[in-house]
Amino acid sequence: MRPTQAAFPATRLRRLRSTPAIRKLVQETTLTPGDFIWPVFVRDGTGVVEPIASMPGVNRLSVDKVVEAAKEAYSLGIPSICLFPYTDPSLKTEDCAEAWNPDNLSNRATRAIKDAVPEIAVMTDVALDPYNINGHDGFVEDGKIVNDRTVEALVKQALSQAEAGADIIGPSDMMDGRIGALRQALEAEGHENVLLLSYAAKFASAFYGPFRDAVGASGALKGDKKTYQMEPGNSDEAMRLIERDLREGADMVMVKPGMPYLDICRRAKDMFGAPTFAYQVSGEYAMLAGASERGWVDGEKVMLESLTAFKRAGCDGILTYFAPAASKILNG
Ligand code: PBG
Repeated sequence: MRPTQAAFPATRLRRLRSTPAIRKLVQETTLTPGDFIWPVFVRDGTGVVEPIASMPGVNRLSVDKVVEAAKEAYSLGIPSICLFPYTDPSLKTEDCAEAWNPDNLSNRATRAIKDAVPEIAVMTDVALDPYNINGHDGFVEDGKIVNDRTVEALVKQALSQAEAGADIIGPSDMMDGRIGALRQALEAEGHENVLLLSYAAKFASAFYGPFRDAVGASGALKGDKKTYQMEPGNSDEAMRLIERDLREGADMVMVKPGMPYLDICRRAKDMFGAPTFAYQVSGEYAMLAGASERGWVDGEKVMLESLTAFKRAGCDGILTYFAPAASKILNG
């Protein structure tokens, strides 16, 4: 749609910007705590709040502290919390069996949150990298990341998460065919209301660096993830992936990273109209939080501006480490 407008001075677009009241009236997109999914890092222990050096302000939390975080999120109006486990290196193996252990860290945290704050939607991560001795999201055979055997393992992992009470399952692995396999397994096992938020268009990005520190996967990773995550220059391929995942049974789709990929978000929303999310990833957080720490940018302002940009680009919601800080400001 092209707006029609008279020529100057009949049209003076600055009239619409002349006071805070008028600006508020014509603001096209707004941000609320209801737009956020808050990713949190879980570790073993009790009473542990362990700072992550490359993500100032973000901590690894033991299960009891994650429960406190979930309560805080709920009271701030944040609808969902997303769990990422920091797995003890001794539990990382080639067969990744810890991924579907009913009592692994992620499942223990899910049960504890659902016990204490059942109203909050718990999202969990499906991928083998936290449990894999070589840091990849799939099994490695002869130096190659194998697809179909990985999908079978992802199904076991997702079912253990659904059993623990996960509301939203987020496959972040980028294997082919996993959404269909997960949807079928969830239906067969009586989990027909468990949602799938597919990391459908996930790019092979250097912006994931601080996350890999946070979950302890940096040291482990051999090589890169380019045979399964996308080439940053591609956009048509992102649309094919999103269409495929929606057809296989994804309820919601995600673009990741966020800020450098807002064109993909807009295109996806326009093309499919499905619930569309973006992940403002660890490196994006680190840039903003790090520059703010040094006094180079106004931290609060760049946080809210960056999050508003996702809404403007068509996103229904945002996974962001800023969720509690932004919500506190938005709630006044
Ligand atoms: C891996 C996974 C990654 C992130 C979420 N799940 C990293 C990767 O693909 O290597 C990144 C999140 C972030 O950077 O904040 N399954």
